[in-house]
Amino acid sequence: MFKIQTLNNISRNGLDRLPANLYSVANEVAAPDAVLVRSADMHKAPIAASVKAIARAGAGTNNIPVTDLSARGVPVFNAPGANANAVKELVVAGMLLAARNIADALGFVRDLDASGDLHHKVEAEKKRFVGTELAGKTLGVVGLGAIGVKVANAAYALGMRVIGFDPHMTVDGAWQLSAEVAKAGSLAELFAASDYLTFHVPLNDKTRGAFGAQALESVRPGIVLLNFAREGIVDAAALRKGLADGRIGRYVSDFPEADLLGDPRVIALPHLGASTGEAEENCALMVVDQLRDFLEHGNVRNS
Ligand code: MLT
Repeated sequence: MFKIQTLNNISRNGLDRLPANLYSVANEVAAPDAVLVRSADMHKAPIAASVKAIARAGAGTNNIPVTDLSARGVPVFNAPGANANAVKELVVAGMLLAARNIADALGFVRDLDASGDLHHKVEAEKKRFVGTELAGKTLGVVGLGAIGVKVANAAYALGMRVIGFDPHMTVDGAWQLSAEVAKAGSLAELFAASDYLTFHVPLNDKTRGAFGAQALESVRPGIVLLNFAREGIVDAAALRKGLADGRIGRYVSDFPEADLLGDPRVIALPHLGASTGEAEENCALMVVDQLRDFLEHGNVRNS
């Protein structure tokens, strides 16, 4: 019997793939054989010596001490691409939220006083929410992996011009693009040409602060910055400076930051990129299959 510890809620359909005659699954487990995790930070507590594998029901593994585990011979399985569609859809929503002032407009309607002439109140105020269209604007995509490619295609379908940068982009990756993605020669070139800029890279030593003081020097004034990847990819000091002097027009992110709460130029969501029933199920199924293959047959896939 394999003992599996779950550190987050994992999709039921994924857990159902673990047959009860072979697996016991619980939140609190003494000496687990494996851990199923989503975003819980595993850097904070020691990982039991009994653990033979970690399964991350998502793409990013920065919440897991992968290097230490590798040294112990413990594979970390993840689910690249399994939630890419969900993230793509939220990035499109993020661009629209910014372009059409949707968050502010919703706040205005929510706070309307129902008494009196509602129609008149709306007509008097709606000018404040006049937006811009995405069609014809340029989206810069940093990272053309599973998510970046989908975002590029969706933006193209909305009539945007798309430019991309990914030092690792292969011919195999490129065929998935239906968008005519012009390849920027450098990040500075991409920053300078973008009206909207979105990051789809993992957080690591190479990408931390990928948007920093230098990047800020090359952006188009009023650029809309989207971060649905990881906090830390956009340098906090550069972000604050850019928002203060208007070089960054809007910051749309999937990570609320304490000192930006309440800033009208910031639209922040509570890390919802992968939070759809479909994505949660896809991720859970993908990693549970890998985990079973490893625990039952010793096969290591995608670690
Ligand atoms: C990911 O890296 O895929 C996301 O952070 C998934 C999640 O929200 O759990």
